[in-house]
Amino acid sequence: MPIIYDIEHRTFKLDTSDSSYIIKIYEENYVLNLYYGPKIPDTYVPDRECVCPNASFSPANPVIGEHGFSPDTAPMEYGTFGAGDFRISALSVKNENGDNVTDIRYTGHKIYGGKPGIPGLPSTYSVDGDGAETLEIYAEDIVTGLKITLYYTVFENTGVMTRRVKAENCGKDPLVIERIFSLCLNLPGMDYDLLSLYGRHCKERSVERRPLSHGVQGVESRRGASGHCQNPFAAIVEKSADENGGEVYGFNFVYSGNFSALAECDHNHTTRFLMGICPENFGWTLLPDEKFDTPEVVMVFTTGGIGEMSRIFHRFYNNHLIRGKYKDEKRPLLINSWEAAYFDFNADKLVDFAKEAKKLGIELLVMDDGWFGHRNNDKSSLGDWYVNKEKLPGGIEALADRVNAEGLKFGIWYEPEMISPDSELFREHPDWHVHVKGREPMLGRNQYVLDFSRRDVRENIWEQMDKVLSTGRIDYLKWDFNRNIAGAGSAHLPPDRQKEFLHRFILGTYEIMERLVTKYPDILFESCSGGGGRFDPGMLYYSPQIWASDNTDPIERLGIQFGTSVCYPASSVGAHVSACPRTGYKTKGNVALWGTFGYELDPCKLSDNDKDEIKRQIKLYHETYDLIRRGDLYRLVSPFENPYRAVWQIVSESRDCAMVSVVTMRHEEYPHLIVRLKGLKEDSLYRERESGRVYSGALLMNAGINLTYTANSDGDSAVMFFDREKSGRRE
Ligand code: DGJ
Repeated sequence: MPIIYDIEHRTFKLDTSDSSYIIKIYEENYVLNLYYGPKIPDTYVPDRECVCPNASFSPANPVIGEHGFSPDTAPMEYGTFGAGDFRISALSVKNENGDNVTDIRYTGHKIYGGKPGIPGLPSTYSVDGDGAETLEIYAEDIVTGLKITLYYTVFENTGVMTRRVKAENCGKDPLVIERIFSLCLNLPGMDYDLLSLYGRHCKERSVERRPLSHGVQGVESRRGASGHCQNPFAAIVEKSADENGGEVYGFNFVYSGNFSALAECDHNHTTRFLMGICPENFGWTLLPDEKFDTPEVVMVFTTGGIGEMSRIFHRFYNNHLIRGKYKDEKRPLLINSWEAAYFDFNADKLVDFAKEAKKLGIELLVMDDGWFGHRNNDKSSLGDWYVNKEKLPGGIEALADRVNAEGLKFGIWYEPEMISPDSELFREHPDWHVHVKGREPMLGRNQYVLDFSRRDVRENIWEQMDKVLSTGRIDYLKWDFNRNIAGAGSAHLPPDRQKEFLHRFILGTYEIMERLVTKYPDILFESCSGGGGRFDPGMLYYSPQIWASDNTDPIERLGIQFGTSVCYPASSVGAHVSACPRTGYKTKGNVALWGTFGYELDPCKLSDNDKDEIKRQIKLYHETYDLIRRGDLYRLVSPFENPYRAVWQIVSESRDCAMVSVVTMRHEEYPHLIVRLKGLKEDSLYRERESGRVYSGALLMNAGINLTYTANSDGDSAVMFFDREKSGRRE
């Protein structure tokens, strides 16, 4: 039973395999968070109820009095605005009187097995044997009739809990939600670092670690998308924690729009952490009887350090978030036309690509941007999803048939949420793009954003896509999104609901994605946003892989892939070998191997040597497919800490095989690199495949291996395998 209710103390205890979370219903039905940390047997933590009442003019509840409790200093489970808690609030709702005082108190609860979905939103799901149980805590503001449900699902056997919130207007008057976070957590003390993933186009998800300090700090997106600049991920990390040990709280928001992940350290030196939809320019009117569901947060606690947090996220996303045929089935090895041809292609050129690609062992050809309308550059045709007959005279069907005849599957590119001013769609519907009254809309990559909050707009795009997909010729679809949203508003929403637009936009996108994956379960979906500008768990729910970056230089990719791996599994990380000049094909392959793997080059332009190398790496790709996708990752030497070398290791679930990859970013004159492997069986023997040398697991993990002279020249790389000896134990 991962969730129990202790009637005597009025506490809930939520246990995963190695963490406990305790909630208390306090006097006057305040809901408090007493504990989140390493697993403990107790169901009550009395010393955590109140920190230090009246520490700084903190208000008292009139019934409880001033004897020892104030919402301002108590660990409020879901801190609200205006009711005595002055820290950043998780909830603020404007009522009919125009004030925002929001005071919720416990009214009941329910505990049940499994996990419900969230209407219209992506979410993680329960599978057999994960021991999932859900707790719903009900709380009400008696003055306004606002009912709040706090949802907690414990995946007992995975180390993961998820949280989200539902608001319901059970009163007589309309309410306006002005902020509604999905998670609020209070930790005693503030001796923590905040870990986050910042970036930009072509340099996504760099790891940043900074100490928490008094006041509010954190990361946000206000771009209308989760964005390149901050990922919807944050971790609160014990000061001494590193890759291999220490207490780490990891949080990831299952959402693709604006978000906030904020920490506040208060005057009592405690830490409050919030994650949810960014309150800036957000508002949602709830008429009587209406409900609002927040997206969910996936929450991991471990004492095993940042590395173990990542592995918990990886396993969890592979099993409880990614869905559909390609969750388990081997995905076809693809080649994408973008970096090979950009907009300059026709049917014959693509068929030539297919012919050559087939000889190398590639299984699917993706026709990227440029196949529709009259698109020959990025200035036109988004929204006109019918074939460009000049480039593809026989249409999609004829081209797909020709590609299939060469022995390859066929994939296609779309950017459904966008519209070019130079398009038939724009000429027919000059008001379908996102804009606000009286202002000239801004362009981004020469395009506007379509108002996906509107059903008629979505329907039009759906029908156009459906017409192509229902030919049955499409095996793969790349969904791109190449700008962020300025001038956010919808002509279809009344003035007092304009702040609903950005969330409605994301709900519209999710609706079409859900429709697509439901009607076309055999298509492999890959999402993309100018590289990795929407690399988030919301997107992973609809597409098992996401293009990680437009930067395909393998040296630059090291940082991008190390950062991405902090939270997302290798199975999801779109990574291709391209023609970029900095390194040879060996290193390009060794880096792309740590992702979905594929190609992004003109196969007709390869030298014979390069073709041989590519055939070798494709063989390696097949041999390591399951190991990389299902194995445990250990980041041994990070490019964020070492300017010369990057080393990572993947260990199979059975611990029978370990793959160690080393890349030299820059040759070091007097190098020294001894690396201790991780995750092996101490008392087993492992044979290094190439040298045949046999080591004990204990030696490899404690004494380590010497990589000082391994591939130590600019841009070189090596992959080593350690196989467990069949006899198993050491004599
Ligand atoms: C941005 C993507 O990241 C690229 O891979 C490519 O699809 C282009 N868009 C096409 O416009």
